[in-house]
Amino acid sequence: MPFGRDQPTGLTGPVKAANVNVRMIPGRQSTQDFAWILTQMETAAKSSGADVALAVAREDDDFHPGALVACGYRVDRVSRSWRLELGDRSAELRLARSNARDAMAQIGIEIRSLDDTAHESIWRELYGLAAETLPDIPSTFSEAIPPFEDWLARMHEPGVFVDRIWTAWRDDSLVAYTYLVYPAVGDVSTAYTATRKQFRGLGIARAVKLESIGQAIELGKHSITTNNDLENAAILHINSTLGYQSLPGLVTYVKSLAS
Ligand SMILES: CC(C)(COP(=O)(O)OP(=O)(O)OC[C@H]1O[C@@H](n2cnc3c(N)ncnc32)[C@H](O)[C@@H]1OP(=O)(O)O)[C@@H](O)C(=O)NCCC(=O)NCCS
Repeated sequence: MPFGRDQPTGLTGPVKAANVNVRMIPGRQSTQDFAWILTQMETAAKSSGADVALAVAREDDDFHPGALVACGYRVDRVSRSWRLELGDRSAELRLARSNARDAMAQIGIEIRSLDDTAHESIWRELYGLAAETLPDIPSTFSEAIPPFEDWLARMHEPGVFVDRIWTAWRDDSLVAYTYLVYPAVGDVSTAYTATRKQFRGLGIARAVKLESIGQAIELGKHSITTNNDLENAAILHINSTLGYQSLPGLVTYVKSLAS
């Protein structure tokens, strides 16, 4: 039940938000059991200092959304889930990658993946860009920026491969990066994509995404999934133009733990 998100507006002072997700097995769903477990989690969250509880459900789920509303939750945010099928479109996507490489070269942007010898200074650059851009993701309760060591540990978790982190550089400055997570089982998914503010709108995010997509094709993957807040117009537009097909989205519910 991690928490550590702050909401800078609307309430006096930062709001601590706790994630309290309960999943009932299909066919054995009980609103009473759901409510009981959730109450235990809310109590624990509150005693740990949380002000609000957040829970997530798929918009096409026929149990959890109603069960959350019955427990006093309201919709906070809606995001779109997407899948990009690679098989049929691999030639088209590789051509788009090649065109994007040329376009980037013309504006002085070099794209490359990291390698196993990545020095700490490179990780520090990546961390700096993550810290600068995470607050730009539309959200009600913005993610707290993790300390460098915690962030670095996440970048070395299973499923994250250094040579699958794609970066864009102008001279010696990092301007964008993206990476996919390759779990041992299940879908390859986008973990994060970011472009430094003064370099946005130049096609750099699309170009680095195309590199990671091309690499996934070459690694024999069949599809990539991703999930984006409905207010994140730029990334929704990029995904749509890359041919991602939308799936039922994720709805985040919120409940105040005050009183
Ligand atoms: C999302 C983000 C990575 C985009 O980076 P970028 O380098 O500017 O993206 P690109 O230039 O490749 O493409 C942006 C596209 O979105 C379009 N766009 C930008 N703002 C838009 C808006 N408000 N509505 C619709 N389209 C928009 C641009 O016109 C461009 O499309 P085009 O090339 O077809 O004209 C960048 O805004 C960012 O770092 N945001 C913060 C982190 C984040 O939200 N990451 C995504 C979630 S993981």
